[in-house]
Amino acid sequence: LEEKDAAETARCPHAASRAHGLDSIPGPTNWPLVGSLVELLRKGGLTRQHEALVDYHKKFGKIFRMKLGSFESVHIGAPCLLEALYRKEGNYPQRLEIKPWKAYRDLRDEAYGLLILEGKDWQRVRSAFQQKLMKPTEVVKLDGKINEVLVDFVGRIGKINVSGKIEDLYFELNKWSFETNAKYNFTFGMMMVTPVELHKSLNTKTWQDHTAAWDRIFSTAKVYIDKKLKRNAVRAPDDLIGDILHHSCLSKKELYAAITELQIGGVETTANSMLWAIFNLSRNPGAQRKLLEEIREVVPPDQDPCGEHIKSMPYLKACLKESMRLSPSVPFTSRTLDKDTVLGDYAIPKGTVLMINSHALGSNEEYFGDGKQFKPERWLRENSTINPFAHVPFGIGKRMCIGRRLAELQLQLAMCWLVRDYEIVATDNEPLDVIHSGLLVPNRELPVAFIRR
Ligand code: HEM
Repeated sequence: LEEKDAAETARCPHAASRAHGLDSIPGPTNWPLVGSLVELLRKGGLTRQHEALVDYHKKFGKIFRMKLGSFESVHIGAPCLLEALYRKEGNYPQRLEIKPWKAYRDLRDEAYGLLILEGKDWQRVRSAFQQKLMKPTEVVKLDGKINEVLVDFVGRIGKINVSGKIEDLYFELNKWSFETNAKYNFTFGMMMVTPVELHKSLNTKTWQDHTAAWDRIFSTAKVYIDKKLKRNAVRAPDDLIGDILHHSCLSKKELYAAITELQIGGVETTANSMLWAIFNLSRNPGAQRKLLEEIREVVPPDQDPCGEHIKSMPYLKACLKESMRLSPSVPFTSRTLDKDTVLGDYAIPKGTVLMINSHALGSNEEYFGDGKQFKPERWLRENSTINPFAHVPFGIGKRMCIGRRLAELQLQLAMCWLVRDYEIVATDNEPLDVIHSGLLVPNRELPVAFIRR
């Protein structure tokens, strides 16, 4: 979170004078060997875990502890606890280790990127990208490039729709955001719950698929990066990534890994956020009408929407924020504590895995009244009392999403283009079930149609 937002936040009312140990943290029954796995399965399994976590926060409060098999984690779902964590964070915050990814890199002697790097190496690569990628004045310069793809995308929506309906809209959005590989996601998921060493030593189908998927991802990325490096050698870089490549002291191997992981971090998350924005606008024609009015007021009809226009579009920004609150793509992120840390009433030891539950925060009535409703206006109220630590779709602190600014600009421009050209209508009003498959996704084709204005 930005420093100024954080500074405005009230001190945690739960800070205790004498902190209790990890064992005193409440949580679901921890049975021998299985922990709470059976209970979680009974609540709908891993694909419904986001709902189970909301229930547990309701039952146990702002913090609870849960064991699934041998994996233990402490879940935090209160702004004051997130703020405490943010204030106590060290120089190199860590997320939960992604062992299958590391295993592939070790096998092929490839480097780690930002998603899996740790310690000083993480900081070195992060700072090579951070300055440009997190600076709004730099990112806004990418609007032309973002628009080039949007012209094609909006044109394609016009061509491929049948009476306004798009077959497999999510796939189309992923292609827009970039190609993503569903098989790769599946293999990754499997190996997060069973030991990767086992898959590797038995050379299971899961391990072979995982390796083949990464081979393809890396070889494709290398072709593009090599092309760019070659061009940079003969003339000055003409875009943001080219500029970063040119000025960083990273090795070629580190660049391959870093850029590959930027793509992986950015593709499906952005497509998924766009999917939910489309859904929320379809179910809220009043908000869509207001957004269209703002677009028509700010963007002259003979001009393309651009970064400069976005600066004068508070309702557009509020629509995106509200969509990411109500329908977040990434339900939680994690931290592995690198030192003993007091959070609220509890002293939590080094090595504990904390889950930062942004989905539970966004759906908590204590922080967002009338929270089931899509109300962009809540972000525009003067003297808004929304705690910035209650809305963390991009994570928090030094390790927060490095593509945040880029994603926001891309989504804001996409919303402008789409809503200006098409009325997004709901084709039914049945509830839409949400399942967890790494990201939160609808369990059926999105019931929307695009009607040319
Ligand atoms: C990390 C969400 C778009 C690259 C993260 C994290 C979240 C997140 C929750 C974890 C942060 C934490 O642990 O505190 C999202 C969402 C996106 C999005 C919701 C779209 C709406 C992007 C884009 C890129 C990107 C466009 C690349 C340009 C990354 C990388 C990390 C990351 C590299 C790891 C950063 C680090 O550990 O230093 N993202 N992201 N993300 N994201 Fe994103």
